[in-house]
Amino acid sequence: MSDQKNTVSMTDNRTGKTWEFPVIEGSTGPDVIDIRRLYAETGMFTYDPGFTSTGSCESSITYIDGEKGVLRHRGYDIADLAEHSDFMEVSYLLLYGDLPTPPQKAKFESDITHHSMVHEQLHDFYTGFRRDSHPMAVMVGVIGALSSFYHDSTDITDPRHRLIASYRMIAKVPTIAAWAYKYSIGQPFIYPKNNLSYAENFLQMMYAVPCEEYMVNPVLARAMDRILILHADHEQNASTSTVRLAGSSGANPFACIASGIASLWGPAHGGANEAVLKMLNEIGHKDNIPEYLAKAKDKDDPFRLMGFGHRVYKNYDPRATVMQKTCHEVLDELGIANEPLLDLAMELERIALEDPYFVEKKLFPNVDFYSGIIFKAMNIPVSMYTVLFALARTVGWVAQWNEMIEDPTQKIGRPRQLFIGEVQREFIPLHKRVSKNRELAPE
Ligand code: SDX
Repeated sequence: MSDQKNTVSMTDNRTGKTWEFPVIEGSTGPDVIDIRRLYAETGMFTYDPGFTSTGSCESSITYIDGEKGVLRHRGYDIADLAEHSDFMEVSYLLLYGDLPTPPQKAKFESDITHHSMVHEQLHDFYTGFRRDSHPMAVMVGVIGALSSFYHDSTDITDPRHRLIASYRMIAKVPTIAAWAYKYSIGQPFIYPKNNLSYAENFLQMMYAVPCEEYMVNPVLARAMDRILILHADHEQNASTSTVRLAGSSGANPFACIASGIASLWGPAHGGANEAVLKMLNEIGHKDNIPEYLAKAKDKDDPFRLMGFGHRVYKNYDPRATVMQKTCHEVLDELGIANEPLLDLAMELERIALEDPYFVEKKLFPNVDFYSGIIFKAMNIPVSMYTVLFALARTVGWVAQWNEMIEDPTQKIGRPRQLFIGEVQREFIPLHKRVSKNRELAPE
């Protein structure tokens, strides 16, 4: 008899048949029921659209406790990392599993810095886009185009190739992101400078112009660095799962990251930061908050309170706490005494957190609720907000992609389904067919 402690039993009441499946315990967090043999033994699939109760992999990178509002990277609390670390250290931590020693940090930063330039031919990929393209469309296209370069590092079974591709991806994404902005405003591309930090370099590539010296504001650079930390990785979210699924077929790493950018773009995910600002501008004044809360609660109204709610957090998103603090710091530094959108956001948060609907459904502000206000204060255009999220999340996607490739048990991801369509029909020759459905012909 197997050890009862480590199994669960399942009985099919239709047949009386019973099966046992192993329970696997992690280092912390929920145990998992290992159902890899479920179909072979029962002939049935599980059914979990949206994967609300499904673990897709083993991972040691990021742990989230949604009930307690806990987020840790390799065991370190996000608040500690945001306060005491910087984005390059956190990137090293995500990739290698430990905080770097001084020599390790210096070498990592130098390696990343010296890969921040992109192939000069990459310029040409931008010119195919309309100037008014959404920068996320440009990001998907140009990052995907990276897969047509670097034929010296695309054997993903070679750890050395994976490392080079990982460093190139992390190093080049700020350059590609800043150039998406420059292209949209018709300004010349600004090259990275090797004497600047990762966040400083991004800001100078965004805002410098060739005709004058650009001085990075150290407070804004620190705020940007902290924002990058807060967005770096977040367990198996939609875009990370997209990267893992794409990578599970052995696809080109740059193409896999492009798939993650595509998934992040959606307003239910990384696109929420842009949607929050649009929502706040639409609400306009705190007197209108009740009307919009009513819309958010109306099942027949597609409107949702953007920046609120989360699949995992049923408590305050710990990143939102740090983001709110950073928001005040940035506004203070810029001498923005009363930012109407921030006042509106704080009033909206106060009212929503007291509203029974939001309390009952455990809807709290998430990482996207305050980021838009900071970005607005930093003169970052709304269309670039999700690009910044993608810039930061690239290191998380790369770390998770490496962990997947290095997992010897990893197989190609191939979910099954519950089929509800026509079971079998005889073919009908064209001249005998009559239409049963409303015409679906395009306009
Ligand atoms: C990110 O997964 C991650 O880790 C993502 C992320 C990361 O770092 O990678 O944290 C980044 O994507 C943050 C989330 C950004 N998105 C938004 O702010 C968009 C607004 N939020 C919602 O769309 C929603 O909360 C989701 C998409 C974030 C989560 O949706 P779920 O888990 O599928 O939850 P749900 O839609 O089933 O909602 C549960 C209930 C529903 O009501 P009932 O059907 O049970 O009656 O809560 C309601 C929802 O209608 N609800 C909301 C709401 N969010 C959920 N109602 C109004 N406003 C909202 N924002």
